[in-house]
Formats: sequence, C-alpha cells, structure tokens
Amino acid sequence: MLTTNQINQFAELGAVTVDTPLTEDHLASAVDAFDSLLPFVEPTEGGKPNYRVSSRDVFEQPLIDLIQHPFLEQSAKEILGAEAVEFFATAIIKSYPQPGAEFQFWEHVDIKYSLSDIDSRPRRMFCSCLVWLSDVTEKTAPLMYRPGSHRLIGGHMVEHPDYIDDPVNIGDLPDLPYAEPEPLLAKKGQVSFLTTGMIHGASTNIGSHARKVMFIPFSPKGVEVRANMKTVEQRYEYYRALGPLLRPDRRHILPEQRA
Ligand SMILES: [Fe+2]
Repeated sequence: MLTTNQINQFAELGAVTVDTPLTEDHLASAVDAFDSLLPFVEPTEGGKPNYRVSSRDVFEQPLIDLIQHPFLEQSAKEILGAEAVEFFATAIIKSYPQPGAEFQFWEHVDIKYSLSDIDSRPRRMFCSCLVWLSDVTEKTAPLMYRPGSHRLIGGHMVEHPDYIDDPVNIGDLPDLPYAEPEPLLAKKGQVSFLTTGMIHGASTNIGSHARKVMFIPFSPKGVEVRANMKTVEQRYEYYRALGPLLRPDRRHILPEQRA
C-alpha cells in the first residue's frame, strides 16, 4: 500500500519514488535480460557511438514478470484512484557512460493533461512505473524533471485545451513559471511513479556505470488516454503476443482485444 503522502506527491509534484517487494533474484535475472538485449555496439570507423540503447515489446520472462507484478498494478490503481488499470506499453533503456562528455539533457512533455484530468477519480492519465535496475545518481543519467510543471500546463489547458499525443519540446510549451529541473535519483529495485505530462527528459551519463530502467505505464481501465497513436496497431500486436505468456490470473492487465 502506498501512503496518502506518496499518492499526493505524484499528483502535486509529478513523481514519487518508493521501495518495492522485488526480490534480489528477480532483479538479477532482469539485469541479465537487459544486458543481453542491450549490448554496447562499438561504432564503425568514423561513426558515433550510441550511448543510449533501448528496445520495446520484450518477451524475456524476468521482464514479463515485471510487467505482470501485482505491486505495480496495485500501486497504479492507488495512484490513479481507479478500480482497475490496464497496461499500455513497455520500453527498456540502458544509458552507457560517455567518457569526457558534458552533462546535458533534453526537456519535453509526451502528453498534456488538463487539471480536471489530473484531479478526477479515476485520474484520466497514465501512471508510468519506472523500474530501476541500477542505482541512479546525479552523474549516471538521471531523468531530469520540473516538479509540478504538469499542473501549470494543466491549468493553462483549461483555457487552451490543445491536447497532444506526441512529444513537445519545452521551447514550444506555454511560458509559465516552471520550477528548476531536478534529477530523479533512485536505488536499484526502487520504482518511480511519474507522469510524462510533467516536463522531463533524459540526461547524459557522466558516471562510471550504466543506468538501466524499464518503463511500464498503466491507465485506468475504460478510460482512453490517447498517446503514441501512430503505434497503436503495434501495441495491440504486442498485447496479443503477450497474453499467452502472462499467468492466467494476471491477464486482466491487458487492454481488451480490438475487433
Ligand atoms: Fe518522455
């Protein structure tokens, strides 16, 4: 069970990081899956190395067991004030150290919500679960975020209901008194629940170890939150493939099949 303070922190600040019941064995097998799926590829001569490697639609059992972990479903229900929630999509991301690089980050929102979306019951929004598979320090590519910025944008949306379903850079957002960016720090095995309607972005890894995170967003069942609509067919294909691989008592987290 999350505390009322933790749920309020999600709603007001946009992110909250908590301890989880994930076991050492489960975390170790999930890390192994990450390392085999996301190797560092040496660039060919003259090419630039890709330090941020990612993948979608994973089928490795330890990662499927994160998607179907009851702790994530239960926490997403509490955060969203929803009787039931459904899984949206997943991505795994590994950020390798960049020797000699300067610390930089990109700021954007992926989606906009109005204050009434954020404050309704259930909330008409995603709760993104970020499962940390490495410690995250100020140096190892922390996600940078501006606490409370989703609420400023949500207030602006009341007068200007310009919804989006693709990322928008900070320079194209309304000029509002946003808080300064802060790093989201966490320990391996913790989960951050956050909204990508808050200004956020990936940063450079200037540390000495790779940062590993798995994104697992949920929305309230029966509430359509429009996002990444270009990939909707691909998502349903993944749900169909994932269904038989989930435990029978966990399949209810998948969205209803489309006709
Ligand atoms: Fe984003």
